[in-house]
Amino acid sequence: MILGVFVSGNGSNLQAIIDAINSSELTNTEIGVVISNNSRAKALDKAKAANIPNYILYSTDMKYKALSLLNEHKVDFIVLAGFLKKLCNTILEAYPERIINIHPALLPKYGGKGMYGQRVHEAVLKGGEVKTGVTIHYVDGLYDHGKIIRQVKVPIIKNDTLETLIKRVLVVEHKLLVDVLKTFSEELED
Ligand code: GRF
Repeated sequence: MILGVFVSGNGSNLQAIIDAINSSELTNTEIGVVISNNSRAKALDKAKAANIPNYILYSTDMKYKALSLLNEHKVDFIVLAGFLKKLCNTILEAYPERIINIHPALLPKYGGKGMYGQRVHEAVLKGGEVKTGVTIHYVDGLYDHGKIIRQVKVPIIKNDTLETLIKRVLVVEHKLLVDVLKTFSEELED
């Protein structure tokens, strides 16, 4: 399975995939290309350090050049790993049920436009929830909307702060993302 990973920020989920491939926890999988809409994304440094072809594409280019890059790098499965933009229809149509997103909450709650990064966890804490979690779902034309593939709950502990919660959820994200990719790589192999 050749992955195309879209990123906008830190890239800790990208790094989790790289590590899982390097340790052979994730087999029959490689990352063909990393695409970012943000030139300052730390994720780009992680891609470079791992010798993965990486590109920065701004809005119009994202629409017209991303698909040809995915084709050029023979990508057959796409991961949105902290990518803050919507994908254009041509990509959605080219990869039916082959694009997933990871979200740091239990969708459908705490998702949608503007609900990303720290804001998600702030809203969860403000909402007085006793649990949050991680969702991996297929991507459609709406933010955080496609069919849910897997969810894992994360309890909120009495003295949780924004920082402690973000950290704990991220650990779960990294594991779940690798687990889900394992399943897809096995399916694609058959
Ligand atoms: C993660 O919380 C992910 O669930 C969300 O954006 C964050 C990205 O983190 N979509 P990172 O860039 O992978 O460190």
